[in-house]
Amino acid sequence: MKHFLKETDFSLEQAQAVFSLAKTLKAERLNSPQPLNMQSWGLLFYKSSTRTRISFEVGVNELGGFPLVLNSSQTQINRGETIADTAKVMSRYLHGLVIRTFGHEIVEDFAKHGSIPVVNGLTDFNHPCQLYTDLFTALERYSPDAVDIASLKGKKVAFFGDCASNMANSWIISAAMFGMEITLTGPETFAPEQIVIDALQTDGLPVNYRFTTDPTEAAKDADILYTDVWVSMGNEVEAAERIEQMMPYQVTRERMAEANPDAIFMHCLPAHAGEEVSQQVLDSGQSIIFDQAENRLHTQKAILTKLSEINL
Ligand code: CP
Repeated sequence: MKHFLKETDFSLEQAQAVFSLAKTLKAERLNSPQPLNMQSWGLLFYKSSTRTRISFEVGVNELGGFPLVLNSSQTQINRGETIADTAKVMSRYLHGLVIRTFGHEIVEDFAKHGSIPVVNGLTDFNHPCQLYTDLFTALERYSPDAVDIASLKGKKVAFFGDCASNMANSWIISAAMFGMEITLTGPETFAPEQIVIDALQTDGLPVNYRFTTDPTEAAKDADILYTDVWVSMGNEVEAAERIEQMMPYQVTRERMAEANPDAIFMHCLPAHAGEEVSQQVLDSGQSIIFDQAENRLHTQKAILTKLSEINL
């Protein structure tokens, strides 16, 4: 059974097929193929969501399937039913499962014990659906006709803020996979952790990301400037301390001016203007944040279609 739990679950060839299909699905949204016809997909959320929930719910529907949104706190998971039993039971009703949760081992356990495809809708370790969407959105700029992954090669990415976060991990892995150069910048205490190095090595990818505490060094000549909220879901008790430490890493107009003149600003949203990014940058012509948000729909429809093809 093919799952999509991490960026490297698709080969480069399969990733290219996902991006090419996303382009077609976007152009022909009202004439969508129906690979999920007569299928029911569970969308299981342990955490809040706007984009992931809506884009998957709409996407499954547009692919001909029935999306069943499940809040984990309203299932027997909340009363101690094991992941193994839950996965086996859900596999008797559903044709696939999208999960947003805390520990990455939870999506792995669903995949291990169930018999239906599992898609990672964000864990504490990574956010692969967001990253594929971000790459597709960048490709719309770099290679609008073919969305050719070769055009990502050598692009310079600068990631600002919490460099030990799920989004940072996903960017580090994707940069290694697609041949981009990535520099992450934030306080020393938020440097990338061993877990992402282990993941790179497990997948045979080079450990060649750079980390610096100097945001100017990271921004210099960057093609993509990326940031995410400084206080992720689960980190709320540390909010004041995190904000104080990360303030030098806010993406401002001045920071954008240090980058390549054609640089784009990206953020997976939700954004906290005045914290990780200024309102001016969010509103600027360099910001492509709402293209990213829209493209969650098209890219995830392509991911679900590709999984269906592989699992036939
Ligand atoms: N970017 C993202 O995952 O958004 P949501 O938290 O709204 O799903």
